[in-house]
Order: sequence, then structure tokens, then C-alpha cells
Amino acid sequence: MIICKSSDEIKLMQQAGNIVNEVLLQIEKVLKPGVNTAYLDRIAEECIYRLKAEPAFKGYVGRLNSTPYPAVICSSINEEVVHGVPGKRVVREGDLVSIDVGVKFRGFFGDAARSFLIGDVCRTAKRLYEATWDALNKSIDKCVLGNRLSDISHAIESRALADNFSVVKVFVGHGIGKKMHEDPQILNYGPPGQGPPLKKGMVLAIEPMLNEGTSDVEVLSDNWTAVTADRKLSCHFEDTVAITDNGPLILTRK
Ligand code: MF3
Ligand code: CO
Repeated sequence: MIICKSSDEIKLMQQAGNIVNEVLLQIEKVLKPGVNTAYLDRIAEECIYRLKAEPAFKGYVGRLNSTPYPAVICSSINEEVVHGVPGKRVVREGDLVSIDVGVKFRGFFGDAARSFLIGDVCRTAKRLYEATWDALNKSIDKCVLGNRLSDISHAIESRALADNFSVVKVFVGHGIGKKMHEDPQILNYGPPGQGPPLKKGMVLAIEPMLNEGTSDVEVLSDNWTAVTADRKLSCHFEDTVAITDNGPLILTRK
């Protein structure tokens, strides 16, 4: 069941989204070669509590996974697709780093991810980064009344394929509200024109994951970190988007 939000609820979700945006900006400031990902996690945790919110990921028990998520952010570097657990891994020049942040504020969740290119990166990393960001923006453009859910999915896949990249199939975007994961699931692939019609008040966390090589992923022995099966590059962006009479409202951007 897809839960539509009132305009007052969307105002609260905008506040949650603003907090997520601010946390990502604070992380970006310190994201340089030589920092380890545990440090980024600490910066995020401090920032979230300073802004009177709570981390949404820490302790989260997934549908497919009984190990509670052990950190505040997900930091996924190069071959890591999503759910990279912060720790000793050090960010290096040339890395493609995705940071995923979720918060709960006054009962509502916000969820977003940004990828960052660290210094000089190879041409493929640059192309993958541009394609994934473009895929997110093209899919957000589909968040208008009159479209259907899979128009979002199709926009992501077509943008990926245009550059010969693959999309990850085992992870999906999701509805979001009083729970971090609500209906519907948003596939990052598929034909257009299918699924539920988009309605005013739907709030969707859209999260394209594009891979350089195979779309297959594996999960490491920490039970969370997902990596590409061929260990080639992966990139991830995410925004929380509300559907309104005036088109898409991106809650996790300023
Ligand atoms: N943005 C991701 C998601 O929607 C991050 C979840 S991390 C988790 O699933 F630990 F909370 F699962
Ligand atoms: Co999400």
C-alpha cells in the first residue's frame, strides 16, 4: 500500500531532507585523500544530533539481512555498490566514493546519497559518475502526475544503457515516510508505462546504482557491504522526492 502524504507532512519531510542535505555537505568538506571512512561516520553522527535528528541506518535490520547495520552512514568506494560499512578503509586519490545518509526527524525519514570523485580519476569513473547523476535527474523529471511508476525505472535504465553501463537489479528505490522503506519498490530498470499511476503526495527515494561491468553483486562477510561481482566500478546517487501538483519536489536538495 502506497501512503500519500499531506502537504503538512511533506513540510516535515522537507525538514528531514534538509538535514540529510546538510550532513552530506559537511561530509563533502572533509572528504579528502587520507581520511578513513570511520571518521566520515563520526562527522555525520555529530552533525545529525546537532540538528536534532536521529540516524536512520544504525541498528537497521533489513528484509534480507538479520545483522543490524552497524554505522550511521554507508560509504561505498569504487567496486563497493552500496551499504559499505565505514571503518578503516582510507579514501585515496582516484576513488569514486558514495556516501548514503538517512535521518529521522519528528517522525519522518529522509534518505539521500551522493557520489564524489576524489582528485584526478580515470575517464571511466568520470563517465560513470556523470551517467548516474544524469540517470537520477532524468528519473526525477518523470515524477509528474500522469506518469506511472515504471517510467522512473525506465528512465534510469535507458540512461545507463546509453553509455553501456549496467544497472544493479537486486537493490531498489522505495517509498519513504514514517518508515524508511515503504511501498512501492522502485526498480532501476524495466519498460515504461507500468505500475501504479503517480499521485500527489507520494514520496519516493529514487536510487540509481550503475556499474561499469556486470550488474551482478556480492555481499561481503560483514553481511552488508555489497560489491560488484567483477570488482569493477559502481556509482550510486539517491534523492527523496515528493510528487506535487507542480511537479517533483526534491526534498534532499537546497
Ligand atoms: N539508502 C539505503 C536504503 O534505502 C540505505 C540503507 S542502509 C541500512 O536502503 F542500513 F539502513 F539498510
Ligand atoms: Co534509500
